[in-house]
Amino acid sequence: MSVLILGATSPIARAVADEYAAAGNSIGVAARDIEEAERIGSDLSIRHGVSTDALSFDARDFDGHHRLIDDAEAALGPVEVALVAFGTMGDQQQSEQDFQKARQVIDVNYTGAVSICEILARRFEERARGSIIGISSVAGDRGRASNYFYGSAKGAFTLYLQGLRNRLADRGVHVMTVKLGFVDTRMTFDLDTSIPIASPEETGRAIFEAEHKGVDSFYYPRFWRGIMTMIKSIPERVFKHLSL
Ligand SMILES: NC(=O)c1ccc[n+]([C@@H]2O[C@H](COP(=O)([O-])OP(=O)(O)OC[C@H]3O[C@@H](n4cnc5c(N)ncnc54)[C@H](OP(=O)(O)O)[C@@H]3O)[C@@H](O)[C@H]2O)c1
Repeated sequence: MSVLILGATSPIARAVADEYAAAGNSIGVAARDIEEAERIGSDLSIRHGVSTDALSFDARDFDGHHRLIDDAEAALGPVEVALVAFGTMGDQQQSEQDFQKARQVIDVNYTGAVSICEILARRFEERARGSIIGISSVAGDRGRASNYFYGSAKGAFTLYLQGLRNRLADRGVHVMTVKLGFVDTRMTFDLDTSIPIASPEETGRAIFEAEHKGVDSFYYPRFWRGIMTMIKSIPERVFKHLSL
């Protein structure tokens, strides 16, 4: 089976790719940095003896998305599992000053993700098989002053995935939403928090196992479900004055 990893330089994406490669699957390694994608692909091939293909991918190059999937399938055969891992936090303050910065965040996390998912959804629907894994964020569960451009794009992506899952549920296609809390990557590099931070490896393993079980949506680390239930229950008149 072939698995397409989009945003493959993310440590979380690499950990997921590693799980699928260890299980004997071919891996399409799609990233903005083609040389890094080639290195990641070679590493997977050497360690797991699987075929890989490195692909140049930019989430904002909407016109190139069809070709990207065509190229992946020409090299490795029909994609059966796709991981949508790319994302960017952006800089909230810069986004407040300059809409072009905000737009980049929206375009990568939402519009680019939807563009890719729609192409995959049509192909998977025609074949009546396939699995789309979308990485979203707890930031999408409630708008906060500190990251609402990123949070709103992730929240929209969560809703999009929910609708897509509903559309494809009886057509043999699985759509899984992963709502991540804190994971140790460059995105959380200077984060000062007392909340435990998960490793990319344990996160990758959890995503791989959940996809195999056909899970629809889950929080990881799991305790974020409780945290977000509490955060969502705070009345807006109180919440709007908090700095969380
Ligand atoms: N770490 C966390 O605590 C956390 C929490 C919630 C959700 N998430 C989500 O988890 C996913 C993986 O993030 P991460 O934590 O592993 O951070 P990361 O290391 O910064 O990975 C982000 C990935 O997105 C790619 N990307 C960014 N802009 C892109 C574009 N225009 N086109 C194509 N790819 C692009 C990056 O590629 P380059 O290497 O080229 O920049 C990189 O592969 C993201 O969707 C993120 O929103 C992470």
